[in-house]
Amino acid sequence: MSRKKRIKFANNALATNVLEVGKPLYETIKGKWNESYFLNSNPIVLELACGKGEYSVGLAQVFPNKNFIGIDLKGDRLASGSQRATELGLTNVAFLRTNIEFLQNFFEVGEVAEIWITFPDPFNLKKRIRRRLTHPHFLEKYRAVMQQDGFLHLKTDNRELFDFTLEELAHFGVRDLEATFDLYQSEMQDDHHGIKTRFEQIFTEKGFPVHYLRGRFLLMTMLNE
Ligand SMILES: C[S@@+](CC[C@H](N)C(=O)[O-])C[C@H]1O[C@@H](n2cnc3c(N)ncnc32)[C@H](O)[C@@H]1O
Repeated sequence: MSRKKRIKFANNALATNVLEVGKPLYETIKGKWNESYFLNSNPIVLELACGKGEYSVGLAQVFPNKNFIGIDLKGDRLASGSQRATELGLTNVAFLRTNIEFLQNFFEVGEVAEIWITFPDPFNLKKRIRRRLTHPHFLEKYRAVMQQDGFLHLKTDNRELFDFTLEELAHFGVRDLEATFDLYQSEMQDDHHGIKTRFEQIFTEKGFPVHYLRGRFLLMTMLNE
């Protein structure tokens, strides 16, 4: 492991805004994010596959009355977001190191108000499609923790993943679905407050359009009515 990575992991071990294996709250936080971590009752917003957490940190500054949690497998990436949030004195951002597979180990039914997925790996190979973060396998997990009518947002440069997601969300009963194939040429860009993730910067510099969608999750009970 590189020296840089070792330093980042050491920072994560000390940072109070990073929850990872071995930290006191990691095993007990499910259902208690507001009570035990944020110490308020503000809505909880997740950024899945957050990488360096630019969206979580950016939105946390725009919306001080919401709580943001960036989630990723990779500790060295989370460390950058954690340090930035600390430098900015933000108390409404946390980072959780886990595989999103295990989301329900960390969030109770209805604990999450909103979910952002920013530039996830497209997993375009047929045998990997189940690993897409917008595959029904994952959508079921999001529905299990989401509040009624909570928004799911996706930003990606990958048209194949975007088309797949639009289709899956329609089947999944997500309502008020709105989408644009070119965010920065659309009226929806105002909702983004100029925040760009690292991967977004890479792709927009190469001239790729950003695709964006949002839709509201219905609870299972509403779908069955
Ligand atoms: C292409 S990067 C995008 C990072 C960031 N959202 C951005 O736009 O700069 C995808 C990220 O997803 C994370 N990831 C992929 N599958 C994951 C999973 N099942 N659980 C947690 N993180 C995952 C990877 O570790 C990686 O940091």
